Amino acid sequence: ANSLKLGVAGLGTVGTGLLDLLAKHGALVARRAGRPVEITAVSARDKAKNRGHDLSKLAWFDDPVALAKSDKIDVFVELMGGDGDPAKAAVTAALQAGKPVVTANKALLAHHGAGLAKLADDKGIALNFEASVAGGIPIVKTMREALAGNQTAKVFGILNGTCNYILTKMAQEGRSFADVLKEAQELGYAEADPTFDIGGFDTAHKLAILTSLAFGTEVNVAAIDIEGIEAVTLADIRNAGEMGFKIKLLGVAVASGEGIEQRVHPTLVPKGSPVADTDGVFNAVVVHNDFAGDLMLEGRGAGAHPTASAVLGDIVDIARGNLRPAFGVPAKELRKYKAAPKRAH
Ligand code: NDP
Ligand code: HSE
Repeated sequence: ANSLKLGVAGLGTVGTGLLDLLAKHGALVARRAGRPVEITAVSARDKAKNRGHDLSKLAWFDDPVALAKSDKIDVFVELMGGDGDPAKAAVTAALQAGKPVVTANKALLAHHGAGLAKLADDKGIALNFEASVAGGIPIVKTMREALAGNQTAKVFGILNGTCNYILTKMAQEGRSFADVLKEAQELGYAEADPTFDIGGFDTAHKLAILTSLAFGTEVNVAAIDIEGIEAVTLADIRNAGEMGFKIKLLGVAVASGEGIEQRVHPTLVPKGSPVADTDGVFNAVVVHNDFAGDLMLEGRGAGAHPTASAVLGDIVDIARGNLRPAFGVPAKELRKYKAAPKRAH
């Protein structure tokens, strides 16, 4: 069978994770996809950088937008990050050229998801983003597909691996915030600008995507009240622990007749509860459904290989011809976002 040709823009933590995965599991992936899957073209900023893989047989593009619309590829895989250009221009160009897109970029989706989904629908092609929320946890497909028969009332969880790693290591090892953040960066968990992690913005980007999937509304990150973990001290963690709590950065979205409430903030979670027991780089997503009941998915929320696993699952869907609306309903049927009145504090 003809191979599915991937153009990958971004060869950092996640991009090299995808190179690792296809190098190790090429034959397995081909069987599951029904055809060989190969990277034929790539783009990054620095052509000379050693990526740990032989790229000499791949086409190199300095410009990711040119890669996105190149006839050398069937699918565009965006792993650069950022809600502006070149990610936005490249994803838009790929969709306009009729090329399905797989992305891990929650910032892009949180700001432009509804418009990009409409473009994908207009072209009748996939815009897949499993890796954008909670790394290796298959929460997007779970909500979009497996839970399609449910009315969801609430979705919440630990959505940022870097923050959970920092809070966990501070609690368990008494280490300083700055020291653990540095380690999380070295492990490839943090965003290029870690302010997005510790300021709560990355959690907000992911929450905005989950909210759209849960309630069938247009993505609205601007509506989220956001507080990060920068002000959390070792003393706060110790005091909370003495009272039987852990401090976790949660993203929470609740729907009621009045509208939707979305918030991100450090939260006291009772020790022994499943969310409190989710430590380190692990994320946990809890969904309250009317028919399926409550469920929680836990797994690695960041890192090269868990994230590459999610990216690859999306690619296999495209290889098989599986096509589902990005946010669960056709983009033109996404409802306008209605915010619930603010609660008094
Ligand atoms: P990195 O910073 O490690 O890698 C980014 C890559 O994009 C680099 O290869 C860089 O090139 C390339 N790049 C950046 N700007 C440009 C540009 N203007 N033109 C061409 N290439 C460019 O990021 P990550 O791999 O960590 O993250 C990638 C995406 O995945 C982001 O959207 C992130 O939010 C998301 N994500 C990350 C996870 C993680 O655990 N790290 C988990 C889930 C999602 P060069 O190498 O030459 O500098
Ligand atoms: N920086 C993100 C995190 C990567 O730490 O969770 C995964 O989206």
